[in-house]
Amino acid sequence: MTTMKYQFTLGIETTCDETSFAVVKDGVDIRSNVVASQEELHRKFGGVVPEVACRAHVEAILPVFQEACDQAEISFDQIDLIGVAHTPGLIGSLLIGTQAAKALSMSLNIPLIGVNHLQSHLYSCALTAADQNRFSLNEFPFPQIGLVVSGGHTGIYLLHSHREYELLGKTVDDAAGEAFDKVAALLSLPYPGGPSIQSAAKDGDPDVYDFPRPMLDSGDYRFSFSGLKTAVLYEIEGPGSQTKDARDRDDLSESEVQNLAASFQEATVDTLLGKVQQALKEYPDISGCSLAGGVAANERLREKARSLCEEHDIPLFIPPLSLCTDNGAMIAGRAYQKIQHSPPSSLEIEAIPT
Ligand code: KG4
Ligand code: ZN
Repeated sequence: MTTMKYQFTLGIETTCDETSFAVVKDGVDIRSNVVASQEELHRKFGGVVPEVACRAHVEAILPVFQEACDQAEISFDQIDLIGVAHTPGLIGSLLIGTQAAKALSMSLNIPLIGVNHLQSHLYSCALTAADQNRFSLNEFPFPQIGLVVSGGHTGIYLLHSHREYELLGKTVDDAAGEAFDKVAALLSLPYPGGPSIQSAAKDGDPDVYDFPRPMLDSGDYRFSFSGLKTAVLYEIEGPGSQTKDARDRDDLSESEVQNLAASFQEATVDTLLGKVQQALKEYPDISGCSLAGGVAANERLREKARSLCEEHDIPLFIPPLSLCTDNGAMIAGRAYQKIQHSPPSSLEIEAIPT
């Protein structure tokens, strides 16, 4: 067992628009998890601008690294292992993180290991369970259904063990978070769309608009969200949609916006959980469900996922909000887990966007 060798793992996350460094002790104890968010910067563009993200990572990286060590009360030379998310993500953003990881690995003379960002999101569920002393990493139940719902990806997995995640299906077009962001833009709600839609939906009625639950009858595990987004657009534009008589979105009343937000959110949640339900039927020996990624922060999704798992009498694993959106702690945790069975990465490790 190599566990003793790596007491402090530094996790580096820069795949999209968050610069995050975290220190995790013994693979589970989150000593710090510092996130510099670029939300403000991207808000005026209504989405992430890759060049802007890249520059912001460069500016944030050293102070965030320093802050992560300060909060964990360790000096740089106490770090034993570096984990970096090297795939998937925006190429420019990934390059900043991987270059930083290589430089630190060389200068501190410690191993570096590249991890997959999506697997790390899923792993954040196990990490949370272990950090909260609910299940140790060794006792974490398998097989599980894992749902990753983020701004760039939406996929459902069969988790056989910490090492073996089998993809059952993914979105054929937009990711769920992307749909939240695009629908928010249609409703003139601020970026990022997930939290804006959630907050508008609180005072809305989810039954006012009967939006589609796409691909629930497809018989497989693919998702699609672009049609749902278009259905919202048609509803906003009214009977003259796609013609010069289309209603202007600024003419929507506050309650129309709230009802549209609530109905869209409900349709998205039902679509996501419909596939989980399908998987629970197809794989009767499932002993848990892990829900991860930025959209897993959504309160309605959390609430309905909780009911679904109660119905099936299986535990639901969802990280706290700080571990749902992009963060370094999940990267450190995953790196520590991976180094138990894989060799460190070489300094040739590449940033791989897809
Ligand atoms: O995992 P994440 O931080 O970044 C990616 O890897 O993409 O996910 C970001 C996404 C954004 O699309 C954002 O709108 C969505 O997560 N999100 C939410 C909520 N909080 C963040 N979506 C729905 N409800 C939320 N409360
Ligand atoms: Zn993510």
